[in-house]
Amino acid sequence: MISSILLRVSTLLLMVGLVLGIVMGIRQDFALAPAHAHLNLVGFVLMFAAGLYYRLVPQAAEGILARIQATLHVIGAILFPAGIAIVLTYGPHYEAFAIAGSLIVFAAMALFAWIVFRTTSCARSPSVGLARQSA
Ligand code: HEM
Repeated sequence: MISSILLRVSTLLLMVGLVLGIVMGIRQDFALAPAHAHLNLVGFVLMFAAGLYYRLVPQAAEGILARIQATLHVIGAILFPAGIAIVLTYGPHYEAFAIAGSLIVFAAMALFAWIVFRTTSCARSPSVGLARQSA
């Protein structure tokens, strides 16, 4: 469940990030490049990796911690690049959004690190082994 949400949201954010990159290229205006980069990296690469981890180690996705982690990751992955774009467009007066977004991303990743350390020794789910045998 958490895994599916993260995998799906991350690919949606990737589409937005790619469109932003294409629009920058068409307009030859690269001012929003840092927002594009962070949307693709935090919103797609990190979120997709977390989704894959939860799929690979189902025990990691159990419980309230993983739900909080996924929620923070989704909020931060949107708020942080949006905050960067707002600062780049309207000036440092509006940096509160970027700061809040960065702190939420940090909290999400710290929680993810904690979950990974707690669950890396968990046995792989039998379904993964079965899928490999039948492939
Ligand atoms: C359709 C695909 C993409 C297009 C058209 C695109 C376009 C661009 C453009 C126009 C720039 C600014 C270049 C400059 O400042 O001279 C840029 C920068 C960047 N892009 Fe992309 N991009 C794409 C996909 C991606 C993906 C998938 C990632 C990461 C997963 C990514 C990460 C970055 C990074 C890290 C930068 C540098 C940002 C900076 O210098 O502040 N891009 N991209």
